[in-house]
Amino acid sequence: MALLSVLTPVLAVVLCLVLGYMLLKPRETETTARKTEGASKSKNFRPWVDQDLQDDTENTAREGGKKDDDWVDSNEEEDCPHVPYSPTRYPVDTMLQRSEDFYALLNQRRSLRFISPEPVPREVIDNVIRTAGTAPSGAHTEPWTFVVVSDLEMKHQIRQIVEAEEEVNYRQRMGDKWVNDLAKISTNWIKEYLDVAPYLVLIFKQTYGILPNGKKKTHYYNEISVSISCGILLAALQNVGLVTVTSTPLNCGPQLRVLLKRPTNEKLLMLLPVGYPASDATVPNLKRKPLDDIIVHI
Ligand SMILES: Cc1cc2nc3c(=O)[nH]c(=O)nc-3n(C[C@H](O)[C@H](O)[C@H](O)COP(=O)(O)O)c2cc1C
Repeated sequence: MALLSVLTPVLAVVLCLVLGYMLLKPRETETTARKTEGASKSKNFRPWVDQDLQDDTENTAREGGKKDDDWVDSNEEEDCPHVPYSPTRYPVDTMLQRSEDFYALLNQRRSLRFISPEPVPREVIDNVIRTAGTAPSGAHTEPWTFVVVSDLEMKHQIRQIVEAEEEVNYRQRMGDKWVNDLAKISTNWIKEYLDVAPYLVLIFKQTYGILPNGKKKTHYYNEISVSISCGILLAALQNVGLVTVTSTPLNCGPQLRVLLKRPTNEKLLMLLPVGYPASDATVPNLKRKPLDDIIVHI
């Protein structure tokens, strides 16, 4: 009994300590979280970037001794006031007609591997690329560079790089399944169009931006943004009666980037030979999926 009366105040103290700890612990965690958040908002914070599309260039640059201080803070950038916007609104029958016409135009688009050497006005190419530059981009970073090559010698050097790599791709890297899948469209590593087409447009994604003060700027979703821009470019080419073949030369990016003297924050995404179709051009007789196979109404 005497022992119990001695232990009761001890137990009460222990109980109070346990309860006190349990009550204080979440607050502490909260404070730590707030502190972390505060730190995140501090100068060195780098926002989340599309992880799955992360690019090695960034890591390489960091390994090369670059610090977080090299990155621009979003609040260092200028404000952007809103202005009125009222685009053309069409009557429903006009909308219907325009949607049918646009579909008919783009449904004629084909990847052409036989391109005429006939010259194409440079202004048309400029306008088509201007159009591609209207694409949306993550946080309006416009992370694209379009390199337009018309110089004969440069085109030939590009062809040599692409064909050398493509031969290895077809013979070794791609594997039987990939090569068989391509058999139906009869492609191989010989790319005559790289010499013949009046223009080669090489589209680079800028994995990050570099401001005039030398600071780096995050280019959110740069690959998706540039891909959208390429889609618009294809539509713009179709609109003026020019042709191309979407090509993504495997393993050629670094060599072509160096050849074209592009900086390391740029990575080659696509190579488009552009011109009129050759008079004897052919295309594989592919069919497109019907609407019901690609649409889901909910
Ligand atoms: C991301 C992408 C990469 C492609 N890469 C190549 C390529 O390296 N070489 C090629 O001849 N065609 C390439 N193509 C073209 C496709 O083979 C072509 O779009 C497809 O066969 C459908 O034909 P169509 O464009 O005439 O509708 C590529 C297309 C896409 C979208």
